[in-house]
Amino acid sequence: MTSSVPAAPPVTLIIFGATGDLTRRLLTPALINMTRAGLVGSDFHVLGVSIEPGDAEMLRSHLEDFVPEKGGEGATKRGAAWKQLRGRIDYLQGDFTQDTLYEDLAKRIDAAPSDNVAFYLATQPTFFGPIVDKLADHKLLDETPGAFRRVAIEKPFGTDLASAQALNKRILARAGEQQFYRIDHFLGKETVQNIMTARFANMMLESVWNSNYIDHVEITAAETVGVGTRGKFYDTTGALRDMVPNHLFQLLAMVAIEPPNSFDAEAIRNEKGKVLKALRHWTPDEARENGVRGAYTAGSLDGAKVDAYSKTPDVAADSKTETFVALKFFVDSWRWAGVPFYLRTGKVMAVRDTEIVITFREVPFAQFANTDIDRKPPPNRLIIQVQPDEGLKMEISIKRPGLAVDTAPVSLDFQYASMFDIATLTGYESLLYDLFVGDQTLFQRADGIEAGWAAVQPFLDLWAKEGKPDAYAPGSMGPDSADALLARDGRQWHTLTLLADEGKAKPPVAKAVAAKTATPSKKPKSAKKGTK
Ligand code: BG6
Repeated sequence: MTSSVPAAPPVTLIIFGATGDLTRRLLTPALINMTRAGLVGSDFHVLGVSIEPGDAEMLRSHLEDFVPEKGGEGATKRGAAWKQLRGRIDYLQGDFTQDTLYEDLAKRIDAAPSDNVAFYLATQPTFFGPIVDKLADHKLLDETPGAFRRVAIEKPFGTDLASAQALNKRILARAGEQQFYRIDHFLGKETVQNIMTARFANMMLESVWNSNYIDHVEITAAETVGVGTRGKFYDTTGALRDMVPNHLFQLLAMVAIEPPNSFDAEAIRNEKGKVLKALRHWTPDEARENGVRGAYTAGSLDGAKVDAYSKTPDVAADSKTETFVALKFFVDSWRWAGVPFYLRTGKVMAVRDTEIVITFREVPFAQFANTDIDRKPPPNRLIIQVQPDEGLKMEISIKRPGLAVDTAPVSLDFQYASMFDIATLTGYESLLYDLFVGDQTLFQRADGIEAGWAAVQPFLDLWAKEGKPDAYAPGSMGPDSADALLARDGRQWHTLTLLADEGKAKPPVAKAVAAKTATPSKKPKSAKKGTK
């Protein structure tokens, strides 16, 4: 985010669920960052809405708990920005299902300095439909020239294909698609947005970006956190619904889309929609073959005791909900014919790491047949490190120095932190800014959401009927069945290691080369586990 970007137009942000965790943990810090960067100014106002009794001061102090008071320069600056923002936060208490709330809202909107309103639904998903209905009943979604009315809807959008279709139908009966901003916070991440730029700004990459050169793609979102206090939500959701049709499919779509005609929102969303619609829908038997699920057992992680998932507060003792999934998909398009996309995500795993690994085809061995080399050089890999330690890494083979002809694998690394300051951003800054300026590029359209659910529906149906998750230990890389999924295809998962720690594991030659090419500025992290 730079200050060369113009400030958003005047707007009132009305947050439903203003006393909830999301507002405190993510929206407020993002708004502070935006205030600091001049992306919202004195004509920006927040009106929090929630059932809890209280006034503006109650909400302000509630949100303030999350704003650091002391600290380095950054924190002090944040303090100043918070002071500016704080004075522009107001509160309205009310029940989301009652007309009186919307009558009060209408009065507040009438009295607001700007006619532009962005409603943000940071509530339980069961309220999404009812709130949109009430807003429409009270004519609060009616736009006029110079007065926009937009609705940002948090995930999860539906719990399966049928419910997502029903929710889309319900809200689209009340306002136009151009008024809805379905959030997937992964799209706010700088590295996720960079996937498209890296592809389309580099001929070198785009020209080999197809099944002629790419062998397979892996997308991993490994987390070390457990379910914690989210048992009630998580036990009815599970890893598949929580992460795959939204976050992981957005990453997949960024990797797989055709070049859009422009970077215009609709052009990009059209292309993304095509990819998601091209995901192969497995039959029940195929789904059994191509998906595994797991749930963590009791154990320890980084020296701390971890209870089994089934012992989490608000989780059924006989729960069959998965905390890990590994899935295989195909994108049935000309470009991706025959290239498997392997996806995995889980809680309480060995390392926090979200990455995309593009593995290229092996070179023919013929040229090396009469040399000392008795094995093919490893295939080239491009690793897009989404988080943490955001960066890009390209693995190539070079000649190992010496008289014999031999190859050595080396990597060309780029780490964002070595050149740019993205560490303080939450990812919500770009989403909120785009909501205020009316750019839907980073938001999901109805057809994309439904296509995502359609592709995971075979797994949801199968798992509702049979079996239970395989056990995996905290601090592992998931159940053995996840390894078996790739082993059946003669492949194995990329070993997860943070880029900042990679130098330590490299053979001497590679290390020397890496030292010349990489300029990491971050301190090495303590989490650095690799495989099981
Ligand atoms: C959320 C999921 O959408 O994304 C969480 O509900 C998950 O379960 C989180 O932990 C991961 O997001 P991030 O940005 O922390 O990688």
